[in-house]
Amino acid sequence: MALPTISASANTAWHHATVTRGCRQLLNGHPAVILWFTGLSGAGKSTLAHALEERLHCQGYRTFVLDGDNVRQGLCGDLGFSDQDRRENIRRIAELSKLMLEAGLITLTAFISPFLAERKLARQLVQPGDFIEIYCRCALDVCEQRDVKGLYQKARNGEILKFTGISSPYEAPINPELVLETDRLDLGECVEQIMVLLKRKGIVS
Ligand code: PPS
Ligand code: ADP
Repeated sequence: MALPTISASANTAWHHATVTRGCRQLLNGHPAVILWFTGLSGAGKSTLAHALEERLHCQGYRTFVLDGDNVRQGLCGDLGFSDQDRRENIRRIAELSKLMLEAGLITLTAFISPFLAERKLARQLVQPGDFIEIYCRCALDVCEQRDVKGLYQKARNGEILKFTGISSPYEAPINPELVLETDRLDLGECVEQIMVLLKRKGIVS
C-alpha cells in the first residue's frame, strides 16, 4: 500500500523572532529590499551588483551580494546546470533572500536566473515592493565578445553543455522594475539609474 506523501517539514513550526525586520530596519535607518539582477552570462550582473553595493555601503547602507559563482561553491555546490538544478538553485536563493530581508539588509542577487517561472516564485515569496527585478539586457554577441571567463568559447567548442544563450534558454523578463542596456550604457550610468529608482521608491535618500 502506498504511504501518503508528506512534506519533510511537516512537523516543524515557525518560531517568531522578537527582534523583527521592523526593529532591524529602524536600527539600520533604511528599508530592506531584494535587488534581483538577471541576465545572460557576461551581461554585467556581478559587476553592477558589486559597484552598487560599494556605493551603498560607503553611504552607510547595510548590504549583501549573493553571487552565482560564489553561492555555487557552497550552498548550491551540489547543483549543476540542468533546467531542474537551475530551478533548485533559484529556489534556494529566493528563500535565502527572503531571510536576508528579515535580517534588514539590502540584498543584491546576481544570478542568470533564466526562467520566468522561478523569478516569479522568488517575487511571490515576499511582499510586493520587497522585490525589485533589474534586467541586465545585453545582446548575446556582446556577451560573447566580452567572454569574461572564456566560457562562451568553451560552449561553442562543445566543452560546456547547456550553456545559457547557446544551448540552454534565457527567458527575458516581461515587466521588470528596471531594464539596463549594459551593451549601450557604461557602468556608472547603470549604477546611477538604479540609485534613481531606489530614491524614487524611498529605499535610499
Ligand atoms: S542559474 O542559471 O541562475 O542557475 O546560474 P547561476 O547560478 O547564476 O550560475 C551562472 C554562472 O556559472 C557559470 N557557468 C554557467 N553559466 C551558464 N550556463 C552554464 N552551462 C554554465 N556553466 C558554468 C558562469 O560563470 C555563470 O556566471 P556569470 O556571472 O553569469 O557569468
Ligand atoms: P555577469 O555577472 O552578468 O556574468 P560580469 O559582471 O562578470 O557579468 O561581466 C560583465 C563585463 O562587462 C565586465 O567585464 C564589465 O566590465 C563589462 N561591462 C561593460 N559595460 C558594463 C555595464 N554597463 N554594466 C556592467 N558591466 C559592464
